[in-house]
Amino acid sequence: MCSKNNQNISQLDFLDLLNQNIQHPELQQKFAIDVLIGLSHSPKWLPCKYIYDEQGSHLFGQIMKLPEYYLTNCETEILETHKRKIIDTIGRQKINLVELGAGNGEKTKILLQEMIEKKTQFTLIPIDISHTALETFSKNLKARIPGIHIKGLVSEYFKGLKWLSNQNHCTNVVLFLGSNIGNFEPPEADVFLSSLWNACNDGDYLLIGFDLKKDIRLLLDAYNDSKGITALFNLNLLSRINRELDGNFNLDQFKYYGTYDSFSGAIKSYLISQQKQSVTIDKLSRIFTFKSWESIHTESSYKYLIDDIEELAQKNGFVIIEHFFDSRYYFVDSLWQVQKK
Ligand code: AVI
Repeated sequence: MCSKNNQNISQLDFLDLLNQNIQHPELQQKFAIDVLIGLSHSPKWLPCKYIYDEQGSHLFGQIMKLPEYYLTNCETEILETHKRKIIDTIGRQKINLVELGAGNGEKTKILLQEMIEKKTQFTLIPIDISHTALETFSKNLKARIPGIHIKGLVSEYFKGLKWLSNQNHCTNVVLFLGSNIGNFEPPEADVFLSSLWNACNDGDYLLIGFDLKKDIRLLLDAYNDSKGITALFNLNLLSRINRELDGNFNLDQFKYYGTYDSFSGAIKSYLISQQKQSVTIDKLSRIFTFKSWESIHTESSYKYLIDDIEELAQKNGFVIIEHFFDSRYYFVDSLWQVQKK
């Protein structure tokens, strides 16, 4: 057991470091405060992390299966093609395989099977803000790899990282796949990576997925799918406010708009009010007014150049071991190592 403070990992099976249960008053308060701040701001915005309740996680699962959303297929191809090399590099010792933003487990499974084949000793520790996402992750993996031991942490990344900093007798291998880094604004990406660096030990690894800059039409198609699932995914923020904070958003009066901002290099997602309207949120005791065509910024999905990635690694204390690309060079999983000495 790899621990500084004798905390036994087996006690951590689905430990709610940040309980997603909405009955939890602190969490509901945090959601309420963030909604109040975002909708009082000009221009209005809402944090994308709140999309991922049970409904939002389910919709994201559907997005990952869309042909237009090339990111998932690209990353699966990368892991299938390069799994041997990745595991040969990281997997010689006993490791804590820490997955931030657990997803549905499909991609992790590829690396795990390789590790099992290589008889690498590991503990799998998925960390996700959504209890539902973790349950799906565990269920999927346990169905495919019988006997696998999974210790999930329901937590925001930062609290999860704090926990990780107590684990210092194994090599930590952190997986941050799926272009999750792209949902951070650039200053947040730096804070995240430097916090991760602080939580890790010299020689720990990070396998991190970046969606690369490419033909803008491909980017726009990926975030404007023909089935309208991405629209429902974003609108889930408003449904969630209705469900949990007693709001009265009329979803028909907001339209999803996903566009590419080539200056910042990000897909920017918005919900646009189709008319002048007022929305009451009872649990905030507030009424918010919307002008016609006023927008709420719901998500940024940053796209990277290899130069940007190398700068990001270097300024946050990581050494790049190797970039693993898909055959079309749409996506990269970059293997970094923590350098402290
Ligand atoms: C989770 N994240 C990396 C996705 C992305 O591509 O930004 C979320 C998403 N938003 C719309 N489609 C998918």
